Amino acid sequence: MPGTVVITGSNGGMTILTVRQYALAHPEDHLILLVRDPSKLPAEAVPASDKIIYEALDMTSLEAVRKVSASIAARIKAGSLPRIKTLVCSAAIQVRIGVQSIRQDHADVQITSIEQPKVTPDGYEETIAVNHLAHFLLILELLPSMAPDGQIIIVGSDTHRNDYKFFVKKAAYAPLEQLVNVSPGSEPIENAKDNGLQRYATSKMLQLMTGHMLARRLKSHPTYSGINTVMFDPGAMGGTGMLRDQSRFRQALVDLAFSFPRVLNWIDPEFQISLKADSAATLLRIMEDREMAKVEPLEPVRETGGAPYYTPSGNLTQSYGETNEVEKSSALWADSVRLLGIRKNLSLE
Ligand SMILES: NC(=O)c1ccc[n+]([C@@H]2O[C@H](COP(=O)([O-])OP(=O)(O)OC[C@H]3O[C@@H](n4cnc5c(N)ncnc54)[C@H](OP(=O)(O)O)[C@@H]3O)[C@@H](O)[C@H]2O)c1
Repeated sequence: MPGTVVITGSNGGMTILTVRQYALAHPEDHLILLVRDPSKLPAEAVPASDKIIYEALDMTSLEAVRKVSASIAARIKAGSLPRIKTLVCSAAIQVRIGVQSIRQDHADVQITSIEQPKVTPDGYEETIAVNHLAHFLLILELLPSMAPDGQIIIVGSDTHRNDYKFFVKKAAYAPLEQLVNVSPGSEPIENAKDNGLQRYATSKMLQLMTGHMLARRLKSHPTYSGINTVMFDPGAMGGTGMLRDQSRFRQALVDLAFSFPRVLNWIDPEFQISLKADSAATLLRIMEDREMAKVEPLEPVRETGGAPYYTPSGNLTQSYGETNEVEKSSALWADSVRLLGIRKNLSLE
């Protein structure tokens, strides 16, 4: 059945490949491609069609997320767009180099600081703001515009594991207010190394906690029980924008190493390296094979309910650590609702 598909991070290294394949295979669907800067989406990347709509959205602004959601909802209500069959949450940022403005000798000076937190115009730490808060808001604002059997796809990452052995500083759950209320320049330089990676990993943990909670809350909801949530780890990929803050040399080195996933995964299967084209194909499969979202998650969330989580090659896997803790996930949900000022009727509480 034709519908609308909304995708964040549509111009991303992996996601653009999925978008292209989906657009070619499903000309009957309307695609709303949310991109920070539509000029970054090369025209040849996506087939020309009046059903493909580019919508500018900078997810560092919660007001912008509200406006875009309201505009999509209004078009669906007016009947100019069909209901949303799929919402893909794929945008993400990993901030390792922050530029901060400081006042010095009565003048504003911009300094570049490694691993210091960057703050959005709303005043929240950027990684958590974009990856978690903006998506949380988008999902809840768009829920009333979804098809009764719609699906929500959350792109996660195994960096959410608090035993993820490739990061020195692991994902660390803390109350939301503590994670988002940071001041640039506040981290002692000697402790700052790898804090950007830790913030990214933590944001992915929050996204998976949200995904499991969303699945639980939708399942028992009187109106939305037919909407499914599914989560996907695309694996460690080269050739995307995820390392944009790194030196060109380091990016080239990672891209080269990650072009040989079989060798590296054979050396250590926990690398979970995947070619971006392969991960893009799995994301496409999840969008098309809607049964994948209906599968029961693996333990330990099977008993409490939750969303199925897939590996880069599309095998069902488990999420780890705090992502499976209902109490902490409920607290995250309540804190997110409060911080974003989400209306009671949309909060699923
Ligand atoms: N690459 C990996 O190794 C890896 C591993 C595990 C999971 N993932 C996940 O895979 C997904 C796709 O990432 P990717 O590797 O393809 O990276 P990517 O090329 O950097 O894609 C990320 C996308 O997010 C968008 N984005 C970032 N900040 C935004 C903002 N403020 N407003 C709107 N859009 C914003 C980017 O837009 P701009 O181009 O405008 O910045 C880009 O389209 C992400 O969820 C990522 O966490 C990646």
